[in-house]
Amino acid sequence: METRVLIMQLAYLVSAVLFILGLKRLSHPDTARGGNRLAAIGMLLAIVATLVGEQILTWQWIIGGLLIGSVVGGFMARFVKMTAMPQMVGLFNGFGGLASGLVAAAEYLRYSMGVAGTAEVPVDASISIMLGTLIGAVTFSGSLIAFGKLQGIVTEKAVRYPAQQFLNALLFLGILAVMAYLTVMTPGAIAGADTSTVNIMYYALWGAAMLLGVLLVIPIGGADMPVVVSLLNSYSGLAASAAGFVLNNNVLIISGALVGASGLILTRIMCKAMNRSLANVIFGSFGQVAGKELVKGEKRTMADVNDVQADDVAMLLAYAKQVVVVPGYGLAVAQAQHKLRELCDNLESRGVSVKYVVHPVAGRMPGHMNVLLAEANVPYNQLYEPEDVNPDIANVDACLVVGANDVVNPAARDEPASDLYGMPIIEVDRAKHTVVMKRSLNPGFAGLDNELFYLRNTMMLFGDAADSIGRILEEVKQL
Ligand code: TAP
Repeated sequence: METRVLIMQLAYLVSAVLFILGLKRLSHPDTARGGNRLAAIGMLLAIVATLVGEQILTWQWIIGGLLIGSVVGGFMARFVKMTAMPQMVGLFNGFGGLASGLVAAAEYLRYSMGVAGTAEVPVDASISIMLGTLIGAVTFSGSLIAFGKLQGIVTEKAVRYPAQQFLNALLFLGILAVMAYLTVMTPGAIAGADTSTVNIMYYALWGAAMLLGVLLVIPIGGADMPVVVSLLNSYSGLAASAAGFVLNNNVLIISGALVGASGLILTRIMCKAMNRSLANVIFGSFGQVAGKELVKGEKRTMADVNDVQADDVAMLLAYAKQVVVVPGYGLAVAQAQHKLRELCDNLESRGVSVKYVVHPVAGRMPGHMNVLLAEANVPYNQLYEPEDVNPDIANVDACLVVGANDVVNPAARDEPASDLYGMPIIEVDRAKHTVVMKRSLNPGFAGLDNELFYLRNTMMLFGDAADSIGRILEEVKQL
C-alpha cells in the first residue's frame, strides 16, 4: 500500500476511535462536553486527512474552508437561541442528507459524462449512487418539513388524507422500480449516459425521493414530532454511510453508521417515552382522515381556573416538605433556568426536599430540559425520571410546573380518544397541590386542552415563567 494511503487509513482509524470514545462520553452529563470535543477532533482529523491525502484541493481552499466553517459554527453556537436549537438540529440533519445526495449526484455525473474513465459502471457503485440519492433526498426534504413544523412555518398538526399510506407505498415502489432499472436491470446504464432517458430517470428519482420525504413527514405532528426528529437524525447517518460507499471512504461509512445507529437508539427511547411503536407513529394515520375533533367538551375560560399570585405560591413552597419541579418548553422560552435553580436552592436551604422531574419528550428536542438545567448547574443527582416519582406523587406537597403542558396532561392517561392517549405523563394532578406557570390557557405543542388547569388542587400562576419565579423568590426571601 502506498505510504500516503496508509497514513490516510491510519488517520481514519484514529478518527473512528475518537468518534466511538466521544459517543460513549456523551452518555453522561459530566463527560458530555469532553466527548463532544473528542468527536470534533476526530472529525477535523478525518477532514484534513481526506483533503490532504486525496490531494483534492490546494492548501488555500482547505484553510479558507476551515476558517469559514469555524466562523459560521462559532457564530451559530453563540447566537442561535436555545429555543431555536431543535429547528437548527432539524436543518443540520437536512443539510447532512443533501450533502450525501449531492455526493451521489456528483458520482452519477462523473460516470454519465464519461469522465470517470470507465466504460462500465460496476453494479455495486451504481447501487451506492442510487441509495445515496434516495436516502439523501428523503432526509433533506423530510428535515425541511420537520424544520418548518418546529419553526411554525408548516402546520404542526398531522396532515392526513384518505389512502395516504397506500399512495406513499405506491410512490416508494415506483422509486424502487427506477432504481432497479438503472442498476440491476440495465447494468452500466449510467456509463456515458448522455442519453436523455437515463438522465431524465435519474432526475425523476431525485424529485420522487424529495416528494417521498415530504409525504412521510407531513402526517406526523403534535406530540409525535420527537420521534420524527430523531428518526431523521438516524437517516442523515445512513445517508452519510451511503455516501461513504459511493466514495469508497471508510471513515464516512463508519461515522455514518454511528450516527445512524445512535439515531435509531434515540428513536427507540422517544417511542418508549410516548409509549408508541415506531410503526404506529409512522403509519398511525392509516385510514384516518383530517378533521378529527381534538378538544373534547365545552371550551373552558379563565373563570374556571384557580388563579393565584406569587405570594400564595411562595407560602406553599416555603412550608412544603417535598417539592417536585416539572420543567417544560416554556422554561426554555422564558430562559428561567437560572432563576429556577436560585429558587430551588433557597427552598433547599430551608429544608425543603426538591426534585426536578424531566420527561423525555419535554421541550422541543431530545435532552432539551437536561441541557437547560445543566446550563444552570442543577446537580445531576437532583434529576429524576417520571417513573421515579409517579408512584409516590400523592404524598408530594407541591408540584411546580414551569412551562410544561403536554407532559402533564391527564388526558394521556384517562382519555382513550385523545391524541396523547398512552403517553406516560408526570402525574402532577395526583399531588396534594400543583402550581402551573404559563402565560395563558393556550394548549401546548400537541394542540390539546389540559384538564389539569381546571382541577381543584391546581393553582394557575399566569405570566412569563422568569418573571413569576423572580416574584416568588422575592416573596420566599421575606418569609
Ligand atoms: P408544551 O406542551 O409544548 O407546552 C409548553 C407550554 O409552555 C405552553 O403551553 C406555553 O403556554 C408555555 N410557555 C411558553 N412560553 C412561556 C413562557 N415564557 N413562560 C411560561 N410559560 C410559557 O411543552 P412540554 O410539556 O414540554 O411538551 C413538549 C411537547 O413538544 C410534547 O408534545 C412533545 O411531544 C413535543 N415535541 C417534543 C420534541 C422533543 S424531541 N422533546 C420535539 C418536538 C415536539 P402559554 O403560551 O400559555 O404560556
